[in-house]
Order: sequence, then structure tokens, then C-alpha cells
Amino acid sequence: MVQRMTEMKKRVVLSVAAALLMGSTIVGAADAEESIEYRQNVFSVMKWHFGPMGGMVKGKIDFDAEDFSRRAALIAALAKMPKEGFAEGTDMGETRAKSEIWENKEKFDGGMDAMVEKADALAEVAKSGDLDQIKPAFGALAKTCKGCHDNFREESK
Ligand code: HEC
Repeated sequence: MVQRMTEMKKRVVLSVAAALLMGSTIVGAADAEESIEYRQNVFSVMKWHFGPMGGMVKGKIDFDAEDFSRRAALIAALAKMPKEGFAEGTDMGETRAKSEIWENKEKFDGGMDAMVEKADALAEVAKSGDLDQIKPAFGALAKTCKGCHDNFREESK
């Protein structure tokens, strides 16, 4: 009887472990590489648009309201993408993501959500074409980039 109970317990433990492995968000090495590539690519596409927008806000490039608004709409869509590229277990390899991200995932995700919120706000304000309104909205968004990078991104690797 005791023997059979232990046997059953073992089997339960094994199937729970198997279910956890299959359903878990911890990804394998190949998937980790893909996740890293995915999020880095999203961020570099964001930078492609963010750069000229910054140039316009700082007066280094002539302000083109239509072009700025188009880029702001793209940034708002892109801002929703990198979060899912930071699954558990993707802190190894060719990445500048600090392991603190996964020790502090709630704060990190909060940073992602703040970026989304500020990017949406900027896209909305950008429709006005009014640089006086756009400037602070752009600044608020840029602050979310810097805030997260300061805490969670390696300087270089
Ligand atoms: C909540 C955190 C967070 C926010 C917000 C954030 N980033 Fe990042 N960013 C990261 C992390 C972490 C990496 C490193 C990713 C890696 O190497 O795997 C990164 C990497 C990058 C890179 C380098 C991509 C590459 O090719 O390696 C660029 C460019 C970038 N971010 C731009 C931005 C811009 C622009 C914003 C704001 C509009 C922004 N980020 C907002 C966390 C964030």
C-alpha cells in the first residue's frame, strides 16, 4: 500500500513537471536567440523613426508636421512590440539586457507600459502639427526610453 502510494506520487510529480516544462514561458536556447533578435530589431526600427523626430524637435532638421505625425503613429505601433521579446531565460547570448529585468519584471513591464502610453499620447498630439505641444510629449516619451535603459540595459557588451 505504502509502496503504491509512493509510486503514484512519483507519477503525479513527473506529470506535473512535464506539464510545467511544456507550458512554461522559459524558452530554450534557439528561442532565446530569436527573442533577442526580435526585440533588438524592433528597437532599431524604432530608432530609425525616433532619430529624425528628435532632430525635428531640437531644430536640427526642418520640422515637417506630416512626416513627424506619420513617424509618431509608427512609433506608437512599434512601442507595443518589444515587451513580448523579454521572456524568462533570454538574458544570455548577444544581448545588452541586464539580468535585473527578470529579477524586477514588474518594474520593467511598467517601463514598457509607460513607453506605450507616452507613445500613444505623442501620436495623438502630433496630429495637431503644433510643435509647442509636440515638444513636451516627445520629451515625455524619450524619458521612458532613457529611464529603462539606465536601469536595465548594459552600456555595451
Ligand atoms: C522598459 C524598458 C525599455 C524601454 C521603455 C525602451 N527600451 Fe530600448 N532597450 C531596452 C533593452 C533591455 C535593450 C537591450 C535589448 C537587447 O540587447 O536584447 C534595449 C535596446 C535598445 C536599442 C538597441 C537595439 C539593438 O539593435 O541592439 C535601441 C536603439 C533602443 N533600445 C531604443 C529605444 C527607444 C528609442 C525607446 C523609447 C522610444 C526605448 N528603447 C525604450 C529596454 C527598453
